[in-house]
Amino acid sequence: MKIAILSRNAKLYSTRRLMEAGEQRGHEMVVLDHLKCVLVIEQGRPHIFYSDKEIKGVDAVIPRIGSSVTFYGTAVVRQFEMMKIFTAVESQALVRSRDKLRSLQILARAGIGMPKTAFASTPKDIDNIIKQVGGAPVVIKLLEGTQGIGVILTETHKAAKSVIEAFLELDANILVQEFIKESKGADIRAFVVDGQVVGAMRRQALEGEFRSNLHRGGKATLIQLTPEEKATALLSAKKLGLAIAGVDMLQSDRGPLVMEVNSSPGLEGIEGATKVDIASKIIEYVERNEFQ
Ligand SMILES: Nc1ncnc2c1ncn2[C@@H]1O[C@H](COP(=O)(O)OP(=O)(O)OP(=O)(O)O)[C@@H](O)[C@H]1O
Ligand SMILES: [Mg+2]
Repeated sequence: MKIAILSRNAKLYSTRRLMEAGEQRGHEMVVLDHLKCVLVIEQGRPHIFYSDKEIKGVDAVIPRIGSSVTFYGTAVVRQFEMMKIFTAVESQALVRSRDKLRSLQILARAGIGMPKTAFASTPKDIDNIIKQVGGAPVVIKLLEGTQGIGVILTETHKAAKSVIEAFLELDANILVQEFIKESKGADIRAFVVDGQVVGAMRRQALEGEFRSNLHRGGKATLIQLTPEEKATALLSAKKLGLAIAGVDMLQSDRGPLVMEVNSSPGLEGIEGATKVDIASKIIEYVERNEFQ
């Protein structure tokens, strides 16, 4: 098969590992930078140009779309779909997973546990927003944030109120969330491929820090998920329509609580912690679907 990885940088760990795993399994692997794809839309014949050459002969694509280029990235994925080429992540699911509010609404409707969360766009009634998620301490998150940046723990009602006020004044999109104290600065990431949890890790924050992001100095270790955690991860991926997903959960007194479902989860942390060849699991998934 000829498999294209949509990635902005061929040197990234995840991209390199997918290339390696695909080549090992006898496929022709190429990296396409989605921002360099020119989409040509015409009646009956959607096609894509890449550096002045029309893309031909690709059997499947594996999208690795960063959150800063979701709009154009998903348009490229959609164009491959129009060309009837199998994509490991559907464009619709990609868009859905990038919208935190919409994702949480879908997961909540499915009965999946999550920290109590409130969204608001008006600086009025902030007291009620804080009250609705159980009162201080609360976690305030910038919707555009990533790697732990823009995630703030406010200990008191007063602090929470000023931070929310400031963000809303700046027209920033935020959510206000119940602080899950008992997770003690740790979260778990379950890596789902095609209806199976292929690896799971626990990330523990540095001493004195509540954010467990590896970019914030968090440490990842292998973890055995409980049946409930496994079921929660699988159902979350399924409800969002993601065949490949990184499901982030907090362990709480009332069971696993989903914080987020990532549609382009990185391979470095999870392969390092679990020693599982997850790249090959992804290639095998693509192989099973090529002719469907
Ligand atoms: N409600 C919460 N209660 C306790 N800890 C939390 C809560 N929300 C987030 N955290 C901690 O903060 C970390 C960062 O939060 P989150 O994953 O929501 O943001 P992010 O990593 O910046 O964004 P993204 O995951 O979208 O890239 C989590 O991994 C977790 O350790
Ligand atoms: Mg996160």
